[in-house]
Amino acid sequence: MSQILPHGGVLVNRIASGEQREALLAEAKGLKTITINTWAISDLDLIGVGAFSPLTGFMNEADYQSVVQTMRLANGTVWSIPITLAVVEAKAAEFSIGERAALVGEDGIIYATIDINSIYTVDHKVEAINVFKTDDLEHPGVQKLFERSSTNVGGEITVLNRPQPEKFEEFYFDPSETRRIFAEKGWKTVVGFQTRNPVHRAHEYIQKTAMEIVDALFLNPLVGETKSDDVPANVRMKSYLALLENYYPQDRVFLGVFPAAMRYAGPREAIFHALVRKNYGCSHFIVGRDHAGVGDYYGTYEAQDLLKTIPTEDLGITPLYFEHSFFCKKCGNMATSKTCPHDKEHHLTLSGTKVRALLRDGVCPPPEFSRPEVAKILIEGMSEQPVG
Ligand code: ADX
Repeated sequence: MSQILPHGGVLVNRIASGEQREALLAEAKGLKTITINTWAISDLDLIGVGAFSPLTGFMNEADYQSVVQTMRLANGTVWSIPITLAVVEAKAAEFSIGERAALVGEDGIIYATIDINSIYTVDHKVEAINVFKTDDLEHPGVQKLFERSSTNVGGEITVLNRPQPEKFEEFYFDPSETRRIFAEKGWKTVVGFQTRNPVHRAHEYIQKTAMEIVDALFLNPLVGETKSDDVPANVRMKSYLALLENYYPQDRVFLGVFPAAMRYAGPREAIFHALVRKNYGCSHFIVGRDHAGVGDYYGTYEAQDLLKTIPTEDLGITPLYFEHSFFCKKCGNMATSKTCPHDKEHHLTLSGTKVRALLRDGVCPPPEFSRPEVAKILIEGMSEQPVG
């Protein structure tokens, strides 16, 4: 069995190098500029390395409308989340179709050029309802959306300078690298795991259950922008390392970060997360309870239900669905309602709020909930910085 193909068939590479880069950089210095924030920089780098294949740039109007309305690009390829470049209206008015612009960070670095092929206005309300299933401004993803300009600029990008990780640089791998590494290790089937949280026992349980039927696990924590009360990525990274060292077979697990922003779009983001992991070379992808959800906006299994509506051949990667898992005191092990016959009173479930309160007080949650090595790091992390 050969490695899974990237979404759309070809791994996109929009990273300029060598003479092409030098020439484009020289040209870019003379171009009109668009200032981009860290979110846009992370999007463009992920487009550049092919993590968002088949996207080669920020979406034009046809793709944007098609994605918002039908969860497919204009050519019919499944894609669930708009990847767009919002530009203030007055700025966008400086440009015409066919023009090349330099995309410059707030740090003055020219990160990329864009060949503008579309300038269009969007309706945030329509996008919010379709993508997030709500236009409630309390929803962190909706809030971010409404903070943006409603003018988008679309077009193919070429990356000239890549964002540099501040920490844990050794865990940044491009899809071409993970694909090569998985092949070198002889892994034919790899299950991808998305997380924006520390890995607790429930996560470990579903990962290891999946590992029983595939060659390896790609632990792929999202480390881009998250909401302020999520545990910061640097604390999480330390906790993942402690966990892997103590509880995982070193030759069947690979840790690499996913430097994307979290959208909190629940069901639609689950599809997006699956497609991206396919680009990293995963054959399988775990979707558990309330994947990429926040608050009570999505039903426990809504992400799974939406994924099941996508024809297998259009998705490519195989989702592995897991029910809400917990420790059952009567079973004496981790379980779900599929495997445990006992009443809820025997199940150990702790809310995120409760766990945060325990950690803030320097108290380890029970080992049936979280490995002590992980809890210790989270407690230390809490005292270093407020995590909500
Ligand atoms: S997410 O926003 O990245 O989805 P989180 O890091 O909590 O949040 O979840 C990572 C993955 O584990 C998701 O697929 C999620 O559905 C799954 N998951 C989290 N907690 C549980 C649980 N108790 N039981 C089953 N699946 C879970």
